[in-house]
Amino acid sequence: MGFPSVLTMAQRWVAERAEPGSAAIDATAGGGVDTLFLARTVGPRGSVFAFDVQPAALARTRERLDAAEAAGREAASSERVPRRTLATVTLLRAGHERMAAELPEELRGRVRAVMFNLGYLPGGEEADDSNGRPPVITRPDTTLPALDAALSLLAPGGALTIVVYPGHAGGSDEASAVDRWAAGLPADAAQAVLYRMPQKPAAPYLYAIEKKR
Ligand SMILES: C[S@@+](CC[C@H](N)C(=O)[O-])C[C@H]1O[C@@H](n2cnc3c(N)ncnc32)[C@H](O)[C@@H]1O
Repeated sequence: MGFPSVLTMAQRWVAERAEPGSAAIDATAGGGVDTLFLARTVGPRGSVFAFDVQPAALARTRERLDAAEAAGREAASSERVPRRTLATVTLLRAGHERMAAELPEELRGRVRAVMFNLGYLPGGEEADDSNGRPPVITRPDTTLPALDAALSLLAPGGALTIVVYPGHAGGSDEASAVDRWAAGLPADAAQAVLYRMPQKPAAPYLYAIEKKR
């Protein structure tokens, strides 16, 4: 049977903490899988903010959201007033390190979940094998300020998840930086847990952090 993947575990822990009607952030929109998950989880009264630096990633995310909305409308077409199933989603073409500046003032300290899926988007703009350019990867000099910002925006009891990829070029430096960041969090401010396969050191792993105060 095996254990759930890091992506599944991240969603599971977030689902337990992000209530309907609340605000949530996807710090790395990519193909939009987590953005859609958050939009469903916080529902039509909630709001989701999704960041990415690649326009193609945001376009993919928009497509995924539109397809889900259309499927939801079709399923509800027998109802007199079709129901919205997804949150209001704001897609931001901005680095996640700008998260605190980009979020509405009134949501500071009220966000219930922030999800990071580090690394690169397979098939992203620069990752196309045919153009020979390196993929757009997340980097410690922007990831660490973004993690600090995420923690400052969370409500007490809210969750921050970070999927870390030590396997690609540049990935192990970022992974070490995130490890140090998580280990250095004051225990009275946040509780961190690590979900990892010790027999596979290059495999992705997950931090989940619950804000305490
Ligand atoms: C592993 S992918 C995310 C996958 C995504 N969660 C999904 O469900 O498909 C990482 C993403 O981070 C984005 N990224 C890289 N640097 C970033 C930054 N400073 N701010 C926001 N996104 C960034 C990349 O463009 C890429 O799309």
